[in-house]
Amino acid sequence: MERLDKILASQGTLSRRDVKEIVKQGRIAVNGITAKKSDVKIDMGKDAVTLDGELLSLKKHIYIMLNKPQGVVSASESDTDKTVVDLVPDELFRKGLFPAGRLDKDTTGFVLITDDGDFAHEILSPKNHIFKTYLATLEHPLTQSDIEMLERGITLADGTTLKEAKVEVIKDGEHPKVQIMICEGKYHQVKRMFAAAGNKVIALHRSKMGNLELDSALKPGECREITPNELDLMKKR
Ligand code: URA
Repeated sequence: MERLDKILASQGTLSRRDVKEIVKQGRIAVNGITAKKSDVKIDMGKDAVTLDGELLSLKKHIYIMLNKPQGVVSASESDTDKTVVDLVPDELFRKGLFPAGRLDKDTTGFVLITDDGDFAHEILSPKNHIFKTYLATLEHPLTQSDIEMLERGITLADGTTLKEAKVEVIKDGEHPKVQIMICEGKYHQVKRMFAAAGNKVIALHRSKMGNLELDSALKPGECREITPNELDLMKKR
């Protein structure tokens, strides 16, 4: 059970002061009975809350899939750059949103934006072996021994260890396209892995988190809410 004003304010568009005001105006009802006070306790899973007679769909947390374009930083705020959170439209926006994991400014693709720290941790922790899938366009062809090295895992000259990856060449040729799956997210990880193989990533796109693919209907810069079934797919190894 939580306070009505706290719950409504956490949904994004109303402040606690707004909630107080609309309760005063008699516009909020809980299970059909007009709420008299904004601090009345409600059970989000059970109680039906209406505003002007319209049922509100209350959610403890929100999960958003963004197709990140190039040039946008994976942060909640920045003085200098546009952030992934700036791309969230008003109807999905709420306080406390952050990107779960970072893509580089020049990397495109799937970013999860949420206000649920526990879920983000579950998805990102290498211990949970949830693979993130990337499509990398490389400067040079990749040899079988490069693939084997990436699949074994790498220790860099500075002692950083990068866990094993799953690697598949999607398109051979001058600038090959390679799918690489990793379950940790160290700084510039994919770029550093290919650099260790004497190669260079010239474009990088995240296509999948866990078993959930980036929705191909989302144009760069667009986002949409992730459904409960899709959240389960994200958690699948
Ligand atoms: N690895 C990178 O090098 N960059 C990213 O943005 C993500 C993974």
